[in-house]
Amino acid sequence: MKLLVTGAAGFIGSNFCHYALAHSNHEIVAVDSLTYASNLKSLDGLDEKRHSFIKADINDIGELEELVAWSDAVVNFAAATHNDSSLVEPKPFIKSNIEGVYILLELARKHRTRLHQVSTDEVFGELPLNETSRFTEDSKYNPSSPYSASKAAADMLVKAWIRSFEVTATISNCSNNYGPRQHVEKFIPRQITEILLGRKPLVYGSGKQVRDWIHVDDHSEAVLTILERGRVGETYLVGTNGEKTNLEVVQMILSAMGKPDDWLTFVQDRPGHDQRYAIDSSKLQRELGWGTSKVDFRLGLIETINWYSNNWDWWLHTKEATEKWYRKTHRG
Ligand code: NAD
Ligand code: DAU
Repeated sequence: MKLLVTGAAGFIGSNFCHYALAHSNHEIVAVDSLTYASNLKSLDGLDEKRHSFIKADINDIGELEELVAWSDAVVNFAAATHNDSSLVEPKPFIKSNIEGVYILLELARKHRTRLHQVSTDEVFGELPLNETSRFTEDSKYNPSSPYSASKAAADMLVKAWIRSFEVTATISNCSNNYGPRQHVEKFIPRQITEILLGRKPLVYGSGKQVRDWIHVDDHSEAVLTILERGRVGETYLVGTNGEKTNLEVVQMILSAMGKPDDWLTFVQDRPGHDQRYAIDSSKLQRELGWGTSKVDFRLGLIETINWYSNNWDWWLHTKEATEKWYRKTHRG
């Protein structure tokens, strides 16, 4: 397939490009508008014969039309993605995550191109902490933050374009990703890089909130599987049973980096903080045979710590601006 990968200089988009080129014969045109969240170094080392990069914004129909017409499928990772910044400045979330998806849908409709929308488990809101229930494809949409509301709106647009215009689209809703090349504003890289700089990790509120962690390569494998074998019009939930409290994750990082497990600071909680996410991915496993060999969380975390320890030039230039921003929001 000829794939147009949007948001390709971000965390999951770039890892997807590496994964897809290593595990398939697909050809990739990678695009990104190069917001603060992107890093072109993340695309270093990709096979130049099957990949090229073009700076383009999914909100710019003129920049995108020819690229969508060229492609067999668009894989849309492009989005504003940080919950904390959506609570301070929601506008970019409306622009890229809703209007941008509208433009991709219209182009997919016009050129009869397949579209895969990469979405999040956050569209379903939160689960109670003291239960074992999990999200399924039938869970009710109930987003909490401007970010998750914008992703929920995009999913609704995709579903409407499938039904009304027969656009050949699929959606995946994945849980929290971790791995190399993730911006230092996000939980796991923030804590690793704080420790590397000799500072204590920063835990919001009680630290009892639960996230369902998945290695980014497992997410990439799921997206590739859906592109290759998924049924058009369907939604698939993606997760690897990785539920952990934030405190557990920080303590695993502290232990792996040789620090005592109480070497941390509790900071002001995130407003509207979702308590728990958990994914039931049995549809993806049952229908598409996904889910055999998954990255062990402890090993994946150690690999991630090693990556940040060995790639200071990738993250250091953005670290202090990120922490300055956090101090202004009282979570630094
Ligand atoms: P990220 O912030 O690291 O990357 C997003 C990329 O999109 C950035 O490079 C940014 O420059 C680019 N971008 C933003 N607006 C754009 C626009 N208008 N046009 C072109 N490019 C634009 O985010 P990520 O964590 O890699 O997330 C990628 C996708 O996966 C998002 O859609 C997100 O909602 C979804 N997702 C993320 C997670 C997670 O845990 N990180 C989990 C489930 C789903
Ligand atoms: O569930 C999928 C979602 O996961 C994606 O859709 C989002 O794009 C992605 O950012 C992520 O959202 P979260 O809000 O869960 O991720 P974040 O890394 O911001 O925070 C993870 C948890 O850690 C959350 O409970 C808040 C907490 N936290 C976060 C930071 C940055 C802390 O305790 N301390 C911190 O410094």
